[in-house]
Amino acid sequence: MDHTKKPVVEALETFLASRPVSFHVPGHKHGLLSGLPEGLKAALRYDVTELSGLDDLHAPAEMLAEAQTMLAHVYGASQSYFLVNGSTVGNLAMIRTVCASGETVLVQRNAHKSVFHALELASVQAILLTPEWDEATCTAGSVSSATVREALERHPDAKGVVVTYPTYYGTTGNELQTIVGIAHERRIPVLVDEAHGAHFIAGAPFPPSALKLGADIVVHSAHKTLSAMTQASFLHVNSQLVDVDRLTRTLSMLQTSSPSYLLLASLDDARAMIAAYSEDDKQAFLAWRREFIGQLSAIKALEVIETEDPLKILLRQKEASGYTLQHSLEEEGIYTELADERQVLFVLPLLTVAISYPTQSICEAIDSAVQRLRGAGEPVPENNESIEETPHKLVITTSAQSKKDTTWMPAESAIGLELAAAIIPYPPGIPLVLSGEKLNPQLIQEICHMMDSGAKFQGAVRANGPTTEFEVLRAQGEDCNG
Ligand SMILES: Cc1ncc(COP(=O)(O)O)c(C=O)c1O
Repeated sequence: MDHTKKPVVEALETFLASRPVSFHVPGHKHGLLSGLPEGLKAALRYDVTELSGLDDLHAPAEMLAEAQTMLAHVYGASQSYFLVNGSTVGNLAMIRTVCASGETVLVQRNAHKSVFHALELASVQAILLTPEWDEATCTAGSVSSATVREALERHPDAKGVVVTYPTYYGTTGNELQTIVGIAHERRIPVLVDEAHGAHFIAGAPFPPSALKLGADIVVHSAHKTLSAMTQASFLHVNSQLVDVDRLTRTLSMLQTSSPSYLLLASLDDARAMIAAYSEDDKQAFLAWRREFIGQLSAIKALEVIETEDPLKILLRQKEASGYTLQHSLEEEGIYTELADERQVLFVLPLLTVAISYPTQSICEAIDSAVQRLRGAGEPVPENNESIEETPHKLVITTSAQSKKDTTWMPAESAIGLELAAAIIPYPPGIPLVLSGEKLNPQLIQEICHMMDSGAKFQGAVRANGPTTEFEVLRAQGEDCNG
């Protein structure tokens, strides 16, 4: 297959070359009516719709079918799909495809919020799998095969296993293949949120791709590590255990009827990019990375942590929290993927022989940001397993009790009450506490501490002046006006 071809990009170019006159949506008419600055407006020429010759994402038969076939070929899938609502819609679709309302699925506890939203929308019961603690990154890592086996023995009616591989921090563990084997013995599929691993098919030292390890459905944020535009993702299926027609139908229900051709073209381009990524490109990236890490390691008071995914590194300034380091880096024009109490996370560029990043000027800027914080003396937590991401037992969660009344309460009064929605530090978007779980003093203290340190939250927590409030379910029979 000729992967230098880009069917979507080429069809758009051919269409525009015909100097089309627009009497169709979108209303900006190839950008003519747009008030955007020139640079942004230029892209609107390509923002078209399902016109003759431009195919239909929901019934692909022309260039979109060809492009998706090429995508499946690169990843070794039997069928692949372009997603225009991120891996979020992939996670929603894969769970809804495999589970009907009221059925049970095993889910890694430190999954992205979109996985929990999928469970809620599909009214699926989740058995939460406790992940292993990852010492290197000080975060919850992957689940062990022993945990999955035990859960399946206790819940033989489970319809599937949902895992995150890699985690946001680049942790993969080395048990995915075993987990797939255990699930397949029982004839149930393994659904993998590989949002952060679309580049894994570049081969070692990148971890093996989930599809290679036998996963049944895999979701990739092509925009996270490849060249696609934000929101543009892939979904792949390679399984006898998945109803592909149902998956196609579900995606068609969940995705917009007006998919952006800019996003579709960028997905086509991202496929071509990873297909063309050669051994020489990878060696060029690895050489640049060695040089970069070497220079970073020479910076006083800075610690560099490598993860299982060579595309991610963590930086720690021993006297400052990750949030403070992030802020200081931003003052130097360096923007990180995320910060937590200990560290910041860098997503490195998947460079090629032809494309490089300067190291010297970047390292000088990082050096200035780090030295500015010398003597900051901020307390940085020990590498203890954090309560935030490690529930110590398997828990059954029911879907959100959206019909019950909710109320906002100050922390002291919220102890022991069920949360009305999840509490989600963002980024990374992994719920600390789930909807329906109860608040305890330790959790409240942890959340308040994180807020004070600079963490941003979505969901059932807010600052109301000096008071931290939580959104909880009212006790049954409690006066809704009270
Ligand atoms: C592990 C994981 N899964 C899924 C998602 C959702 O991806 P998207 O932003 O492409 O919808 C994210 C987003 O950060 C994520 O980190």
